[in-house]
Amino acid sequence: MEDSFYNSKILSRARMLNENNIYPFFRAIEETDGTSVTVAGKKQIMIGSNNYLGLTHHPEVKEAAKEAIDKYGTGCTGSRFLNGNLEIHEELEEKLAKYTGHEKALIFSTGMQANLGALFSICGPRSLMICDMENHASIIDATRLALGSTIKFKHNDMESLEEVLKVNRDKYKRMVIVFDGVFSMTGKIFNLPGAVELAEKYGAMIYVDDAHGLGVLGPNGQGTMAHFDLSDRVHFNMGTFSKSFASIGGFVSGPEHAINYIKHTARSFMFSASMPPAAVATVSKCIDLVMREDSTIHKNLWENVDFMNKGFAEIGFYTYGSSTPIIPIYVGDDLKAMKATMFLEQKGIFCTPVVPPATPQGEALIRTSYMSTHNKKELSLVLEAFAEAKKKFDIPSVHLDH
Ligand SMILES: Cc1ncc(COP(=O)(O)O)c(C=O)c1O
Repeated sequence: MEDSFYNSKILSRARMLNENNIYPFFRAIEETDGTSVTVAGKKQIMIGSNNYLGLTHHPEVKEAAKEAIDKYGTGCTGSRFLNGNLEIHEELEEKLAKYTGHEKALIFSTGMQANLGALFSICGPRSLMICDMENHASIIDATRLALGSTIKFKHNDMESLEEVLKVNRDKYKRMVIVFDGVFSMTGKIFNLPGAVELAEKYGAMIYVDDAHGLGVLGPNGQGTMAHFDLSDRVHFNMGTFSKSFASIGGFVSGPEHAINYIKHTARSFMFSASMPPAAVATVSKCIDLVMREDSTIHKNLWENVDFMNKGFAEIGFYTYGSSTPIIPIYVGDDLKAMKATMFLEQKGIFCTPVVPPATPQGEALIRTSYMSTHNKKELSLVLEAFAEAKKKFDIPSVHLDH
C-alpha cells in the first residue's frame, strides 16, 4: 500500500490543523447571495472573495446567463478551433478589445489557461521572460511550460528589473517583462509606469496579468493600464473573468498579429473546450453594466474600501498600504492567522488566511476583500469582529520587521 502521500509533509500538516479544528480551507458553501454565504448551516458575511463588483447575483447578469443557455445550451463540447466557436465568443472579444483599448483580444476558458497559452506562444526558445518574484502561480507554471528562459527580479523593484534588462539586452530575440497588475494577496498595484519606461529603454515587451485590476481600477474598471493611462504602451494585457466579471474564463489582448499568432499556437486555447455560453453572456453583461453612464458600481466599491481602510486604521491593524479592494491584515505567525480566521468564522465572518509558502515565513496575513454590494451594517460587523480578534490573538499593529 502506497503511504508516501499520506505521510507527506503537506497532508500531515492538514491533518494536524483538522484535528485542532483550525483547518481553514475547502469550506463548503451551501448557499450565497454574494455578500453573505452559509457554511455548515451558519450565515456569514463574505469578505474572502474576488467578487469585487458583486455582479454574480445582479439580476440582469443572471438573466443574460439564462438566456444564453436557452439559445446555445449549457456547453460548447469542443475547442474554438474546431466545433466550439460561437458568435458570442467573437462578439465578446470585440467588446474586450474596445474596453481595454487594444487592437484585438482572445478569450480562453480560464485565466490560468490564458497565462499558460499566451506566454507559451509569446516566449519561444530565444525569448527571455523577466518575472516579478511574487507573480501568480499561473505565470510561474507558464515559465515552466514556455521554451524560453526566465529570470526573476525583486518584487516591484525597478532597480532590480533594470539590472536584469541591462545584463540581458541583445542576448535574446525577445524580452518580455511579466507581472501582476495588482498582487492578489497584498492588493499592491505594480509600478507600471516604471516598467514601461524601462521596457522602452531596453527594447522589451510588457505583459500585465490584470486578474485583480480588471473591473476594479481605471475609470470604468478597464484595469491597471487604464489606471495609469498606459494602454497604448503595454503590449499584452491578460485578465480573468473569475473575479470582477462574475464567471469563469480569461483573455489576452494586444496587437492584432500577435493575438492571431497566439490563437494559432497556444495549446491551452487550441486543445481545450471553449467558455460555456452562460459564462460568455455573463461577462458581456458585466462589461455593459460597468460602462453605463449612471452606474454606481465603482462609487459604491470605493466608498466601501475607504470605510474599511479607515476602520482598520482606527483599530490599529497593519494593512500594507493597500489601495485596492484587497485589504490584507498582517498577523505574522501562521498558526495564529489560522486560529484567528476560525475565530472570525464563529463570529460570522468568512475570510481566508494566507500563510507560507504563499507568503514569506513569519509574514502570514488574513486576506480580506470588499465588494461594491456590501452594506455598511455588514462592514461594521466585520470591523467589530476584527477588533475582538485583535485583542484575543494579540495581532500586531505594526509589521514586526519595520
Ligand atoms: C493574478 C492571477 N492570475 C491568474 C489567475 C487565474 O485565473 P483563473 O481563476 O481565471 O484561472 C488568478 C486567479 O487566482 C490570479 O489571481
